[in-house]
Formats: sequence, structure tokens, C-alpha cells
Amino acid sequence: MVKMTAEIKETIENGIPIPVATVSADGVPNVALVGLLKILDDETILISDNYFKKTEANIKANPQIALMAYDSNAKKAYQVKGSVERVTSGSIYDDMVEWVHSKNANLPAKAAVIMHVDEVFNSISGKHAGEKIL
Ligand SMILES: Cc1cc2nc3c(=O)[nH]c(=O)nc-3n(C[C@H](O)[C@H](O)[C@H](O)COP(=O)(O)O)c2cc1C
Repeated sequence: MVKMTAEIKETIENGIPIPVATVSADGVPNVALVGLLKILDDETILISDNYFKKTEANIKANPQIALMAYDSNAKKAYQVKGSVERVTSGSIYDDMVEWVHSKNANLPAKAAVIMHVDEVFNSISGKHAGEKIL
């Protein structure tokens, strides 16, 4: 795992909703928009699974995911990669349910998807495009 900088964390927060990419067991790519996502600590991002279908199946088959954070005002963009755990009980799950229901009590809050950040790349156009940052 790597530790996200303040800039990376701010860009993720400012970039919500965030496209989250997964891949099926057969190698078929998928992307889903996620609004209920928050940073738990420098190495960890929480995603709330309310309505995932292919995303749910994909992360059960292959826990590697990627997300794209773009802050158009700050002109910063980061590609963030990592592995996830999908949890449906325990304190992180309970905290996720409380957080999600504080926004909308009707959301199913099926699972907490806990992303452990492994790599971050710069995605802003220019000479540093695609460079690995962490
Ligand atoms: C702006 C926006 C934000 C969304 N946020 C979430 C979210 O936080 N959690 C969730 O489970 N679904 C969320 N969705 C719904 C999923 O993106 C949608 O259910 C999608 O179909 C899931 O993709 P999948 O079926 O390929 O897994 C959001 C949709 C939009 C348009």
C-alpha cells in the first residue's frame, strides 16, 4: 500500500462522483459512477455498494480496481489503483451504513467496499502524463 498525499485526497473528494473500473473473471472491463465514496485514511478509500451489479460480481472474482479522480478547478487528475475487500458486517460496515443512511435512509447499503491504495499515476495532460507518483 501507499500513502496518498493531501493533493491526491483533495482531488478525489472534489472529483466525486468518481468512475470506478473493475474487470470480470473473463477480462471484460466495466465502469460505474460512485457518489458515496470517502477517504478513511491515507491508504484507504471506502466505497458504498448500494446498487452494484457487474461491479459486485467483478470484485468478487477479481479484487483489483481502478478509479479516476479529476478536479477541473485545480486542474489535477489521478488514476488510483488498488485491491478491495467487500464487507457486510463489522465496525467499518456499520459506520458505512450510518453514514449512507444519514444521506438517504432508503439506500440499501449492501456492502462496504474497502479499497487499499497500491499505486497512483498522474493523469493531467502534458509532459508528466501517465507518470507514476506513488
Ligand atoms: C452520480 C451517480 C452516483 C452513484 N453513486 C453510487 C454509489 O455510491 N454506490 C452505488 O452502489 N451505486 C451508485 N450509483 C449507481 C451505479 O453507478 C449504477 O448502479 C451502476 O449501474 C453500477 O454499475 P454495474 O451495474 O456495472 O455494477 C451512482 C450513479 C450515479 C449516476
